[in-house]
Amino acid sequence: GIAFDGEKFLRLDEAKVPLEDRAHQFGDGIYEVIRIYQGAFFKLEEHMKRFERSAQAISLTLPYEMPKIVELIEKAHELSGLSEAALYIQVSRGAARRDHPFPDAVARLTMTVRPVKTESTSALRHQGQRVKTTEDIRWSWCYIKSLNLLPNVLMKQRALDEGFHDAIFVRDGLVTEGTSSNIAIVRGGTLYTHPANQSILHGITRQVVLELARELCIPVVELAFTVDELKEADEAFTMSTIAEIVPIRQVNETYIRNGNVDEFVVTRLLQKHFEAQHR
Ligand code: PDD
Repeated sequence: GIAFDGEKFLRLDEAKVPLEDRAHQFGDGIYEVIRIYQGAFFKLEEHMKRFERSAQAISLTLPYEMPKIVELIEKAHELSGLSEAALYIQVSRGAARRDHPFPDAVARLTMTVRPVKTESTSALRHQGQRVKTTEDIRWSWCYIKSLNLLPNVLMKQRALDEGFHDAIFVRDGLVTEGTSSNIAIVRGGTLYTHPANQSILHGITRQVVLELARELCIPVVELAFTVDELKEADEAFTMSTIAEIVPIRQVNETYIRNGNVDEFVVTRLLQKHFEAQHR
């Protein structure tokens, strides 16, 4: 893998950032994960727009203009020599003596480019996943792609420890999203997913799936659903960069369609068309 430490490109295992970077001490920053398929970025512009929105939402001034950032991104990819990869980019509010107010420092942009192991993600896309619902204890600005991922990490690990693949957040009785994905169900041929408001990250994959659904004449309703509605759905799936569209075969102790994800006609159709976009 390759890294950018805010000043130069270097090998990932050689990269270092200062101990007093705001990202370490306060989680004071934002990030994006962008997939590279067959040597080309997928939805780079959409990711960069969200990156700018997240920065703005936390009053963080990006250290470079967008064309320069895109240039750095392309350089990192080129140096990596990778064709199936993921680029991680983050910006922190810089390094300064630890103190809560915004420091008088320059924001630091860092990046990594790593190969993506396609085998494990593709197995899950075929077989589907088991998910566990959990109280959404996160803050109320979930549309910001913030570095503060502790609730996501804790709930993911708890789910894994209990033999599930992932956790699904539930706020006020309504399903919001996964620990690193958005979620949708199909009921009576209609696709339902939580509206893109403050309670969820406005996923790029979610956006692509909704566009595909509309093209395929699948009715789409951006409306939140309950845990019972999820359990009783005809189909359910999560969507995110890297993992892509992953069917849900089990929610807590309940199987969706007896766990037979091959009967998820709409999900399979969306998977097929999603893959056709970049393969
Ligand atoms: N996660 N919701 C949350 C909480 C996420 O962290 C993510 C992405 C998504 C899906 O967004 P997108 O389709 O734009 O990837 C939804 C990334 C992949 C991560 O943290 O690794």
